[in-house]
Amino acid sequence: MKRIVIFASGSGSNAENIIQFFKKTKIARVTTVLCNTESAKVFDRCKKLEVKCLHFKRSDFSTSDNVLNLLKKEADFIILAGFLWKIPQSIIDNFPNKIINIHPALLPKYGGKGMYGMSVHRAVKENNETVTGITIHFVNANYDEGAIIFQAKTALDHQDSPESIAQKIHLLEQKHFPNVIETIILKENA
Ligand code: GAR
Repeated sequence: MKRIVIFASGSGSNAENIIQFFKKTKIARVTTVLCNTESAKVFDRCKKLEVKCLHFKRSDFSTSDNVLNLLKKEADFIILAGFLWKIPQSIIDNFPNKIINIHPALLPKYGGKGMYGMSVHRAVKENNETVTGITIHFVNANYDEGAIIFQAKTALDHQDSPESIAQKIHLLEQKHFPNVIETIILKENA
């Protein structure tokens, strides 16, 4: 049974979906959710699902090994599900091809620093894109630049608002993210 640790910064709808998905399988479990935002909704979701959710500070993450040491104890795979901060090199070095991020656009478009959540959907709308989607990728030292594992697209029309785009992306994320993680874990087990 592989152990998954999820990083989240906000609502945690992806974290919840992944937790529920793996509770029904025998291949992995979410052991811990780590969150850098004290008031985030993900804490309530985890409480309901009876999964440990821990808050950590920038200093635990970037200038000490507190988070790294916890991951060494508790994680085989690390999932970034709406997580805002850049992953330190020490964590990347310890978990090569074991850190997976979801991005709410078709990378390499609309990626990079500051491109998070609604800011992505607003940029997609401003550019009158006729298609957007999700990208699931391995994490390397640069924001949104690791090897792409999976993309799924959704059509847009002129009536779409940033909010309706967010809704379409949410549906794609709920449908695909846990399955893609499962495929990666099964490949490693093979
Ligand atoms: C998701 O749409 C995820 O793709 C996005 O944040 C949202 C988090 O929602 N991630 C990024 O923008 C990363 N650059 P959630 O907290 O409800 O899972």
